[in-house]
Amino acid sequence: MNLLLTPFLVLTGLLTANAQTIMPVETRNTAMVLEVDQKRDCRIAYLGERLENKTEYQRISSAKELANDYSGVLNSVYTASGSRNLVEPAITVTHADGNNSLDLRYVSHDLKKLDENVSELRVHLKDPVYNFEVTLHYKSYYNEDVVEQWSVIRHHERGNVILHKYASANLVMKAESYWLRQYYGDWAKEMQAEETQLTHGIKTLDSKLGTRANLFQPSVFMVSMNKPASEDEGNVLYGALEYSGNFRIDLELDHLNNLRIIAGINNYASPYSLKAGEAFVTPAFLYTLSGKGKGEASRQLHRWARNYKLLNGNGDRLTLLNNWEATYFDFNENKLSELLKDTKKLGVDLFLLDDGWFANKYPRNDDRAGLGDWKENKTKLPNGISSLVKEAKNNGVKFGIWIEPEMVNPKSELYEKHPNWVVKQPVREEYYFRNQLVLDLANPTVQDFVYGVVDDLFTKNPELAYIKWDCNAVIYNAHSSYLKNQSHFYIEYMRGLYRVLERIRAKYPKVPMMLCSGGGGRVDYAALQYFTEYWPSDNTDPLERIFMQWEYSYFFPALSSTNHVTDWGKQPIKFRTDVAMMGKLGFDIVVSKLPENDLKFCQEAISNYNDLKSIIWHGDQFRLSHPKESSVASMLYLDERKAEGVLFNYLVNNRYGERSRLPVKLKGLDPKKKYRLTEINLYPGTTSTLSTDISYSGDFLMKIGFNPDVNSGRTSVILKISEVK
Ligand code: DGJ
Repeated sequence: MNLLLTPFLVLTGLLTANAQTIMPVETRNTAMVLEVDQKRDCRIAYLGERLENKTEYQRISSAKELANDYSGVLNSVYTASGSRNLVEPAITVTHADGNNSLDLRYVSHDLKKLDENVSELRVHLKDPVYNFEVTLHYKSYYNEDVVEQWSVIRHHERGNVILHKYASANLVMKAESYWLRQYYGDWAKEMQAEETQLTHGIKTLDSKLGTRANLFQPSVFMVSMNKPASEDEGNVLYGALEYSGNFRIDLELDHLNNLRIIAGINNYASPYSLKAGEAFVTPAFLYTLSGKGKGEASRQLHRWARNYKLLNGNGDRLTLLNNWEATYFDFNENKLSELLKDTKKLGVDLFLLDDGWFANKYPRNDDRAGLGDWKENKTKLPNGISSLVKEAKNNGVKFGIWIEPEMVNPKSELYEKHPNWVVKQPVREEYYFRNQLVLDLANPTVQDFVYGVVDDLFTKNPELAYIKWDCNAVIYNAHSSYLKNQSHFYIEYMRGLYRVLERIRAKYPKVPMMLCSGGGGRVDYAALQYFTEYWPSDNTDPLERIFMQWEYSYFFPALSSTNHVTDWGKQPIKFRTDVAMMGKLGFDIVVSKLPENDLKFCQEAISNYNDLKSIIWHGDQFRLSHPKESSVASMLYLDERKAEGVLFNYLVNNRYGERSRLPVKLKGLDPKKKYRLTEINLYPGTTSTLSTDISYSGDFLMKIGFNPDVNSGRTSVILKISEVK
């Protein structure tokens, strides 16, 4: 028995006849236990709550009988196909000699403690017959209960090996039943949730769209064990692939009731020809487990994202005024001058100039022309961006700009000059998504061009303070005139995109960038390493946003969610602003046309937001009342000290005089502390119906609760929570 417990220990598994190697991947509350048997098969013995006594991990496998099947590799740590395997593989190959079999046996492992909180376990597997190996990486974040897993595939055969499937992760879980929460959507309908019990067989979540890959389905999901987890109870695993391209997640409930989750790049149209000595590094798959329901899992993930993934996750963000819905393509210098003044008047930090500022031969006056020609349109902006940046500064605000550098309209100079830079089939009719095509980022020259779009803007305008990076088209007719092997296209496109983003961040490490994809078509933790925030959806109807932001909030922290106040929906300005305040606040309205009181309300709301934003951005988020389960939706943000908070409440169903009939029970407070709740964001001329001179114990607020008095006359109520000493 060879038990690995000590950090920094490097082990090679020379095993005696009955020896067993146990490799736990532990976090504060969870463990995934890998074990190796006498035949050097490496299996997952356990995924669940961490055991107090580590020596007991070795007993799990006999208690659970996970692998009591015909093959002996049902719960393999990385299921290889073509030898003993009978289920969905994690990896499938054709060797250089044409043979299709693979068997991966344990060779050694090592564990490195990267710092106080982060460790990395590497497990080296090798085929006993072929010179083919896989190293599995498990990077664990102890305090956040998050694990990232990826694989590195290599060989030294005589010739190329074709990888037909190359998963990032292969998890195995054991429970009585499993409940999957997954998402689907489309433009303006992102993050529609469905939760169902998994039946035997394979359920696949995937994307084949190439770019804007999440348009119909994102890779984020949850699996509850034994019963659907609620906000505060139940065992639940959250999973997500850190990848912005085609993904595939197979959830296979096998004949012995194990759930196997195999996640990675989608192998659709993508057999990869791996050269001898080349390392194929998969993207990471991340998971977090909670024994205390969905709320705890989401807070773990938020902490992890802020500390380790999201760009500037513990930093500040800029509030802004965007002109997309205020002007669409119809603007000029005079109009923008006014908008810059409005930005200041409103009280936000930055003005964001959206689509339509560029292209001359084919001016960008609608979405049919000009994309790709990133020179200021001389009619609209005779003095260029630089004069706008200056003018913004004179007005005491910052200036940001929209780009969509991966794309091109066929009606553009770029397309005319470089038809071979475009993703299209050489002998087929072109087919467009929003009248545009995707540039071939597999081509290094195109990568230089895309990098140059951003670099030029910053070189000419060093004070440019913000970029909105859009990506509106999916990939049709996938073909690169640059690549020799077309089956590498989808993978090389993503490599090209990340290379460009790496270069941008190497030179401009801090400038805030919004990840937009015609809405939420590209929101994932690979991209969010380069972006400070994402655009959840073009649907800014605040009622719809309550539901959408709710679902996003399970996976992504509030400071990354850009929420703009627009004219979508029928709700009053207060409701729209209150909803937008639940993340990173922005506006996209005609400020000059706001009635006096609406403007006054917005100005006061921005000032309130500035007081509370650090709680919303960096605090813990507690879902108190779900909009799908109740007529009132309530979400609480609480600072780490449990001293300050902000509680958002909305009427989401106004039929039959619905209102907040019961008090909303708060969570996360210190039961011993005393708190005062004060209503803020009151529309000018209205007064709160709530009494503010009472203080309550945290105990009372969590057991009995507080009624925000939400009703058809008070459809949105924000309460500031302050500790009373
Ligand atoms: C799609 C984005 O989601 C919108 O916010 C806007 O930027 C338009 N593109 C501009 O074309």
